[in-house]
Amino acid sequence: MTPILMLGAGRMGGALIDGWRAAGAFQASELLIREPNANPTVEAAAQAGALINPADEVLARAKTVLLAVKPQIWREAAAEVAQHLAPDAVIVSIAAGVKSTDISQAFGGRSVARVMPTTAVAIGQGTTSIYAASSEARARAHALFGPVGTAVDLAEEELLHAATGVSGSAPAYLYAFVEALEAAGAAAGLPSEDASRLARSTITGAAALLARSGEEPAELRKQVTSPGGTTQAALEVLLGQGGLPDLLRDAVAAAARRSKELGG
Ligand SMILES: NC(=O)c1ccc[n+]([C@@H]2O[C@H](COP(=O)([O-])OP(=O)(O)OC[C@H]3O[C@@H](n4cnc5c(N)ncnc54)[C@H](OP(=O)(O)O)[C@@H]3O)[C@@H](O)[C@H]2O)c1
Repeated sequence: MTPILMLGAGRMGGALIDGWRAAGAFQASELLIREPNANPTVEAAAQAGALINPADEVLARAKTVLLAVKPQIWREAAAEVAQHLAPDAVIVSIAAGVKSTDISQAFGGRSVARVMPTTAVAIGQGTTSIYAASSEARARAHALFGPVGTAVDLAEEELLHAATGVSGSAPAYLYAFVEALEAAGAAAGLPSEDASRLARSTITGAAALLARSGEEPAELRKQVTSPGGTTQAALEVLLGQGGLPDLLRDAVAAAARRSKELGG
């Protein structure tokens, strides 16, 4: 399945390169990277043997093509390389919202998998939703993203919009939650440095416990909520009318809607 041709190695492509290196998944010498802007990850990959902005005739060596540019410019990125690729190259796209039939057409009818990863692939804890009509393309996506976290197969392409809302965009929800918790701690009288340390450590610890314990989140919540206690007082605010469940339902729906719009 290598060499892998990466079209774009910005935030997400770069996170993937970092994750592969940490997991020992692919050698840098197996990577061909097209990226107009040098960044530390691309420079490190080049030092380790990756080919950066290879000549057009080299592109025919690529067995797998990872489309990792912003959705707004994916057609341009595809048009630059499609005619130079080998007929059996398989395309794996992380471009949010862009349909696999459109991608396949732009790449001369080649097989396509669509994936929606998270940037935690950089530390081997990514989450990747995968849809592919062909089993070969699905296997290729698993080979790329399996070594750097959890990969979830979706039965229908349409479900990628919801998966984007629940997973692809969701790390930002958690970071926003932590920011708000820190600000609330400061508003409740804590020095802001203490509020930050308390909020960050508490949230990352609680997330690790959720991951390790195997318990349902509702069960873990009940375990730390005494009737009539402090946590219950807070949860009555958080889970009440217009609270977290309503907000997250609306937020996920907004992300899914935007994903559809980006797909055109
Ligand atoms: N970031 C996330 O958390 C996340 C999560 C899931 C999926 N995604 C998806 O990942 C894709 C990339 O997002 P990103 O955040 O990594 O964007 P990004 O940081 O802008 O990276 C894309 C890179 O591609 C470069 N590029 C532009 N035109 C190119 C071309 N014709 N050929 C090759 N490379 C080109 C860009 O350079 P310039 O800056 O010069 O344009 C940029 O460095 C998007 O489709 C997004 O939907 C991102």
